Amino acid sequence: MSDDEFRRPELKMAPSRLSGDRELVLRVMPMPADVNGNGDIFGGWVMAQVDVAGAVLPYRIAKGRIATVAVNQFVFKQPVTLGDLLSFYAKVTRIGTTSVSVHVDVYAERNPADLQVVKVTEADLTYVAIDGEGRPRPLPK
Ligand SMILES: CC(C)(COP(=O)(O)OP(=O)(O)OC[C@H]1O[C@@H](n2cnc3c(N)ncnc32)[C@H](O)[C@@H]1OP(=O)(O)O)[C@@H](O)C(=O)NCCC(=O)NCCS
Repeated sequence: MSDDEFRRPELKMAPSRLSGDRELVLRVMPMPADVNGNGDIFGGWVMAQVDVAGAVLPYRIAKGRIATVAVNQFVFKQPVTLGDLLSFYAKVTRIGTTSVSVHVDVYAERNPADLQVVKVTEADLTYVAIDGEGRPRPLPK
């Protein structure tokens, strides 16, 4: 997906909606406790945030309990650093019988004095609607 929309001069920050039906589902800023030995943000922290963000649209569709069944793809395109404000955009890519798959794009707003917005991560995940016993259940109509 193109990042050209972030180069439009009138666009000052990551907006609430992106082209291609991608909607903002989470914004969060990492804390010093999330830093790895290189001084960047630990990839596992980013993965946890993506899992939380990716669950938002499937949760609405499933109207109840869901579980992450698969991380089908995960790409760290750029390091995340302290001070970055991360915006997570999700889009439903498939609705099955019991499962919902989503694509998640993560953008970092950095250097507020001369703002840059850069794509740092993208991922594809699948969530399954589950019943009270943790078994797959059909998605509601
Ligand atoms: C999620 C869980 C209930 C699914 O149970 P299951 O018996 O494996 O389910 P099924 O094989 O019937 O598959 C259920 C759905 O998941 C989909 N699915 C299963 N594995 C998948 C994979 N690797 N990628 C994409 N979709 C997958 C199936 O296609 C099916 O979708 P559909 O009904 O829309 O066609 C079970 O695997 C589970 O409890 N996993 C642990 C979940 C968890 O704890 N997540 C947190 C991670 S710590």
